[in-house]
Amino acid sequence: MPIPPPRSILVTGANGVLGHAIASCFLEREPESRVFLGVRSGRDRVEELAALYPGRAVILPLEVTSAEAWTAALQHISAQELPFAVLVNNAGSHDDALLATMTSEQWHSVITANLHSVFLGCQAVINPMMQHRFGRIINIASLSALHSPAGQTNYSAAKAGVIGLTQSLAKETARMGITVNAIAPAHIEGATPPEWTDEQRKAVQKQVPMRRFAKASEIGAAVFFLASVDASYITGTTLKMDGGLV
Ligand SMILES: NC(=O)c1ccc[n+]([C@@H]2O[C@H](COP(=O)([O-])OP(=O)(O)OC[C@H]3O[C@@H](n4cnc5c(N)ncnc54)[C@H](OP(=O)(O)O)[C@@H]3O)[C@@H](O)[C@H]2O)c1
Repeated sequence: MPIPPPRSILVTGANGVLGHAIASCFLEREPESRVFLGVRSGRDRVEELAALYPGRAVILPLEVTSAEAWTAALQHISAQELPFAVLVNNAGSHDDALLATMTSEQWHSVITANLHSVFLGCQAVINPMMQHRFGRIINIASLSALHSPAGQTNYSAAKAGVIGLTQSLAKETARMGITVNAIAPAHIEGATPPEWTDEQRKAVQKQVPMRRFAKASEIGAAVFFLASVDASYITGTTLKMDGGLV
């Protein structure tokens, strides 16, 4: 039995550019539901959301690489009256280096932050979702998984792992009304590498057939659709959002 709103939704890394846009989309378009905003250190954007949507936007400390943190977060969400229905695994980070000089720490920290975190998140939510026989898991991968640039062996491998995990888990949960999908964005407006100059940004933009980067709200809208009842027959897919780049 599908769970339409009202329901509980969890977005990890909600203080980031994309996490904030995804959470905003749910808060604007699903006024009956409650959105839990997973945070680690930064809080400026989520505090604005919590003030704008009192009681509906709830800040939740969640270090996504910690199994204990996931258990505590799910206990908190499950104690509320609304059924838990949507997990957006958005938190992630990169630490680029050529493989020849990449340290073991750089490798492991990026794999842990982007891939192990998704494993932990999916494992934490799968039982409550199986009980309701409904669930939506949306994993934020990256175009780097499909079209891997030099200098990102750790990040590309982690995000490619997310896509593999998504496909496999989708098959495990399909009979239970739980869909698992991924989104692979290319560059996002306002979230390009801080070290880029304006000239570099313009040069990269010129290579995109649409001649622009994605708006974070456009990715948010795609996540919102994949989380909806309308997307019931879509599972195991990776939605590439790159303005036609690949
Ligand atoms: N920006 C792009 O162009 C782009 C393109 C493709 C895919 N992506 C993916 O999209 C997602 C969001 O990226 P973004 O551009 O919005 O990045 P961002 O602005 O740097 O935000 C990332 C968020 O993730 C949180 N985070 C990182 N590691 C965490 C951990 N271990 N536990 C809990 N939270 C953690 C950060 O929290 P803190 O405040 O603690 O740092 C931050 O709020 C990432 O998975 C990224 O790989 C981004």
